[in-house]
Amino acid sequence: MFLGIDLGTSSIKAIVIDDDGNNIFESNQVLSISYPKPLWAEQDPFEWVEAAECAILKIPKKIRATLKGMGLSGQMHGAVLIDKQDKPIRPAILWNDGRSYQECSELEEMNPNLVDIIGHQIMPGFTSPKIAWIKKYERRNFSSIHKILLPKDFLRLKWCGDYATDTSDASGTMWLNIRERKWSQLALDASEISIEQLPELFEGQQITGSITKSVSEKLGIPIIPIIAGAGDQAAGAIGSSVISPKDASLALGTSGVIFIVTDGFLPNPLQGTHAFCHSIPSTWHQMAVILSAASAVDWCANLTGYDAPSDAYDDAERKGSSEKVMFLPYLSGERTPHNNPHASGMLYGLRSSTDRATIIHAALEGVAFALTDGYKALINAGGQCDSISVIGGGSRSTYWGKIIANCLNKTLIYKNDSKCGPAKGAAELARCGIMGINILENLPESPIVRVIEPEKNYTEYYQNKISEWRKLYQNTREFNQR
Ligand code: XUL
Repeated sequence: MFLGIDLGTSSIKAIVIDDDGNNIFESNQVLSISYPKPLWAEQDPFEWVEAAECAILKIPKKIRATLKGMGLSGQMHGAVLIDKQDKPIRPAILWNDGRSYQECSELEEMNPNLVDIIGHQIMPGFTSPKIAWIKKYERRNFSSIHKILLPKDFLRLKWCGDYATDTSDASGTMWLNIRERKWSQLALDASEISIEQLPELFEGQQITGSITKSVSEKLGIPIIPIIAGAGDQAAGAIGSSVISPKDASLALGTSGVIFIVTDGFLPNPLQGTHAFCHSIPSTWHQMAVILSAASAVDWCANLTGYDAPSDAYDDAERKGSSEKVMFLPYLSGERTPHNNPHASGMLYGLRSSTDRATIIHAALEGVAFALTDGYKALINAGGQCDSISVIGGGSRSTYWGKIIANCLNKTLIYKNDSKCGPAKGAAELARCGIMGINILENLPESPIVRVIEPEKNYTEYYQNKISEWRKLYQNTREFNQR
């Protein structure tokens, strides 16, 4: 049996699979986020460890005792700063934190060649601009940095004592030469950090170390090897067999991500797309990332007094689309295609007759429209796919899937374990890496449970509505910059 852990933003998930890749057990533990100031998003790394250990201890003892290996996946881009005693110097700064926008402009101005190496625009969510912010505003913290880790790799440090990461997660730091899959000296110089301050780099299935004796005793698991793992998006793709060029996935979680596998490095920096390493050697992927997806719908549901988001989805479906009411989902700013941390959410077209179901429907559409913009940016960069496999919590809503299929004008596919996502991918990387089997030939094909085809009437309706919706951002952009 193999264990996969996904350190998400709102929860940690653990999944156990058997030697053939069948799901055996799943557990979850909720996490909290703090937003201490506008544009900031932080978490306590010790809360991650505690929550991950709780999720592992929920797995029945008998199953834990049979584990043969572990894989990690996690939220990308976060800056976890570690001192010489391996303690976090400050709370982790997360992927959706936009405080370093000024440092992005400075990095861009001083390092015009950086974009060619990292394959995307310099964006505040990424790790390097956060370090530039620390250097400017928290000088003492900057000088006590011994290592800079990504979130999932802090769990590895606590459980195994190693400083290690993988190429897919490292792609989101802005310190990796994506084409060559190794740390870039030029990018490190731009941040004034040394290669010794970064973890050792591995491909996703490689073993980086083993669980220590004390952790093995505490968690009731054998002293098992741990593999490098992957960033949550690459791991989610592995979990739903998105592994060969032209395979694509759409992750509907806190963020919304369209992911297309490529056999080379395909950047499109001007439109905010990401060109990153996949967690399979010699394989890359493109990504369009919107920062608020299911979280934007949940936010509207919460604000309008729904007890459960699922009731909000049902009400929206009964209500249907309103031509006038529109929603911009940029509650944490936006990456693809705008690269604008100041972009903000907006509800437009309200009347005294507007009810909450209409607002939720506008939120479902607004996220679908933002994904359409992201998808177009990927296609402009040469991305190609025939259909898209939907994963993450948002895959529960077939109705939302219909809206998205009509907006993208693309077939959406839902597989049996679409909600398992990155944790399943991390477990698969461990299974294939530790058993020494080829991941390309040995991922079990999950049965397809649903296929949603675009419908001509609706694709036309949405094409028109998206054109109107785009004007909302374009015409109000300057208000947000103030
Ligand atoms: C990907 C990204 C998010 C986070 C959180 O670039 O920022 O998907 O990894 O899930």
